Amino acid sequence: MKEKLLALQEAALAELAQADTQQALNDLRVKYMGKKGALTEVLRGMGALSAEERPVIGQVANEVRAAIERMLEQKTAELERLETERRLAAETIDVTLPGRSPAIGAVHPLSKVIREVEDIFIGMGYTIAEGPELEHDYYNFEALNLPKNHPARDMQDSFYITEELLMRTHTSPVQVRTMERMKGAVPVKIICPGRVYRRDDDDATHSHVFTQIEGLVIDEHIRMSDLKGTLLQFAQEMFGKDTKIRMRPSFFPFTEPSAEVDVSCVMCGGVGCRVCKHTGWLEILGSGMVHPRVLEMAGYDPAKYSGFAFGMGVERIAMLKYGIDDIRHFYMNDLRFLKQFARI
Ligand code: DAH
Repeated sequence: MKEKLLALQEAALAELAQADTQQALNDLRVKYMGKKGALTEVLRGMGALSAEERPVIGQVANEVRAAIERMLEQKTAELERLETERRLAAETIDVTLPGRSPAIGAVHPLSKVIREVEDIFIGMGYTIAEGPELEHDYYNFEALNLPKNHPARDMQDSFYITEELLMRTHTSPVQVRTMERMKGAVPVKIICPGRVYRRDDDDATHSHVFTQIEGLVIDEHIRMSDLKGTLLQFAQEMFGKDTKIRMRPSFFPFTEPSAEVDVSCVMCGGVGCRVCKHTGWLEILGSGMVHPRVLEMAGYDPAKYSGFAFGMGVERIAMLKYGIDDIRHFYMNDLRFLKQFARI
């Protein structure tokens, strides 16, 4: 019987050593230790033993059981460890793999310039105003001292939608809308960026749709020197602290006096180059003191209040600032062009 037990132990341990799944281990546990298992079977024969033999064989049987159980435990632990290792290996992440960077858009150069101009004027206490692109003839022309049949209307060839409605030709109607909204209160200090439309043939320097920024200040005692100081401050923040400005007499129906404003050439600093056509100066905006009739029509007493206004073309400023030679680039949505502004 002892030999039987030892043979059984040997067979069980050999089989257990081969087992490579939890399932196989379970099967072996049943096969040897189960109710109908081999060990149980042998032990059943114990009854036939003599009284002297029984404790001896009993001890051997216990040792065999313990040996098999130890082996089962050991194998279970080993298989669990292998399973964990296998899973970890399968889930390994290569942390040295370079990340996939998402495609990030760039701010359009016109938006960039608008933001920059806005920031400069916000720094001087202005707020941002807006108005509709589809505008009444009254706001676009009439209230800006451009009555019907006024020859100056020809300066701004318009897209009329109806007799009374047109695509605004400039951002100046926002001046009038702002003054109406303020109902005679001061100070008025706004800038207004926006899109404007003119019946122009498109070429390198003309576009039938373009962008302007309008400025308006109304208060008591506003003088031309305030306009000049403001524009000099703006030009130096926009183009560099050594920038100079000059004002040339001009005409706009909505300002009196009116001035065209030039900045010293951003390319050559005023020495003269191809960009400034060897004059040293670049024209960047129109401006003037708000015409008394415009103030009056919008509900401000010109005897008490005065103001200045200006209007600039955003495309022109962007072209000068970034050295862009064709206005059409702004509207073509060519990624090769737009991507260049991703890092500026
Ligand atoms: N609205 C004018 C234009 O589009 C630009 C302009 C000139 C605006 C003088 C002004 C101004 O506010 O005072 O040509």
